[in-house]
Amino acid sequence: MATTFVFDAYGTLFDVHSAVARHADLLGPEAPAISALWRARQLEYSWVHGLADQYVDFWTLTRRSLRYALSSHGLDPDSDTAAKLLAAYETLNAYPEVPTVLDSLRARGARTAILSNATPAMLERAVAAAGLAARFDAVISVDPLRRYKPDPAVYRLVETRMELAPEDVFFQSSNAWDVAGASAFGFRTCWINRAGLPVEYPDMPPGRCLSDLRPLLELASAG
Ligand code: LAC
Repeated sequence: MATTFVFDAYGTLFDVHSAVARHADLLGPEAPAISALWRARQLEYSWVHGLADQYVDFWTLTRRSLRYALSSHGLDPDSDTAAKLLAAYETLNAYPEVPTVLDSLRARGARTAILSNATPAMLERAVAAAGLAARFDAVISVDPLRRYKPDPAVYRLVETRMELAPEDVFFQSSNAWDVAGASAFGFRTCWINRAGLPVEYPDMPPGRCLSDLRPLLELASAG
């Protein structure tokens, strides 16, 4: 069977900080802190809603977390700036190596897919904006399941949707907590540690730690 590479979307394929970066002039020196808080609360809300069994979709959580981040910095969450940031989040930049790595994996006979907390509409928009639409065999959203990573039921979606055993999957995420969940589930995992962050979750370690997606080409069997 061809190797299958499944990717987390936000932070792994798409640069979540590119929305704020595009409008940094409107936010001033606090722009990076606002972006970091936006992302942190977006993820925290997904875990709290998931653990409380009170699913609310990821786009709603993205809007709420932006409101929190802006308000925390004394900024108006109903301003034009907020609307611009949210619009930019719909069309985030892909990391530079993403299109060529996907093409090269597929040229070697590998299958490629996304497994993301985001809604189908968010994923469709982001994938199209980055010119990646023809580069995936499957784009899998948690939304129909109404659960968030790292719930094992989410990783099981790959098994059922793509008819694969966990050990046949290479799962890539830049989020250490997501890699931990995927490793515990039984996927072969690669932590895409672009920022050189310290190791976390020693009980659920990544199979590999890579500084970007390019070394994945060595893992794909020649097609
Ligand atoms: C995703 C978030 C976790 O794409 O980044 O699933």
